[in-house]
Amino acid sequence: MNPTVKDVARDAGVSVGTVSRVLAKNETVNPAIRQRVEEVIERLGYRPNSLGRSLRLNKSDIIGLVIPDITNPFFAELAKHLETLASAAGYSVLLANTHEDPKAERKQVQSLLGRAPAGIVIAPVSGSLVGEILPDGVVSVAIDRGLTGHSLVATDNFEGGRLAASHLLELGHRRIGYISGPSTTDVSIQRLNGFRGRIEETFSNQSQHVVELTVLEGNFDYKSGEAIGRQLLLGDIKQRPTAIATANDQQAIGLLRASRDLGIRVPEDLSIVGFDDIPLASLVLPRLTTVRQPLEEMAEIAVRAVLRGGAIMGLVTLKPALVERDSTAAPPAR
Ligand code: RIB
Repeated sequence: MNPTVKDVARDAGVSVGTVSRVLAKNETVNPAIRQRVEEVIERLGYRPNSLGRSLRLNKSDIIGLVIPDITNPFFAELAKHLETLASAAGYSVLLANTHEDPKAERKQVQSLLGRAPAGIVIAPVSGSLVGEILPDGVVSVAIDRGLTGHSLVATDNFEGGRLAASHLLELGHRRIGYISGPSTTDVSIQRLNGFRGRIEETFSNQSQHVVELTVLEGNFDYKSGEAIGRQLLLGDIKQRPTAIATANDQQAIGLLRASRDLGIRVPEDLSIVGFDDIPLASLVLPRLTTVRQPLEEMAEIAVRAVLRGGAIMGLVTLKPALVERDSTAAPPAR
């Protein structure tokens, strides 16, 4: 019988993913490991055959990636990392953009299933309808946002919200605004709960000054950051927040635009904290303080789960990190 990629991996003492990376001539493979794998391939007479694999496993070398909004830099970055890792393992990625629409998402997933994918990685829309149509035989992993009954790899969004609040409290801010994402998305709810929870901890400690928190709901896009930012900033200078945190960087960048239009200096008059750490965050002026999501690690865990044939990993939460740049400072003396 023809040796399989698993035989090669076993004899070489590496993972199937490593064998795939050697076959894909991926430079990231350690030369000594590459040589050992190539020797085993030679000795066993292993010949990769994607058609054979498709027929034998009734699976293609395609990984479906389903995301709600390709125009959101977070998802564009995620797609880039996931595609890099998948192609290194000898797989192609078929990208489906669902426009945050459950019906469109269902249609896209059904069409992907018709291609006998090796697996599907999905950041589901709110109110997703695909839970029941993803068959057990297809490895499916939720990424970033949860999908009932499916493994999930995501940032610890609650902790990320806490990090943003702690940063502003430590700087001395006591009048704080928060622009959340849509209340229908789990990541937005978790971030707000973490942020608000950390603020409320100060209420329980009498030695702290009381903190005023104003929360308004946004839509994870530049426009809502700008429009809601204007709402929060139009009040009297003595009433308006000295710091505003947002549920993602796009809203923070929209808020930056509103502050500039209103002649409010950042960070001298107003501190701003975002969430995601998209590439633009370090390019806008002032460079944005934000909470970084470990995107590459998230993508790697999702791809590995598909390559492994979907070892159920349950819930994997990854640590966020505060990235302090130039958009936050102590509150102005008033
Ligand atoms: O940027 C929008 C949000 O959607 C990101 O923070 C990411 O977590 C995704 O869910």
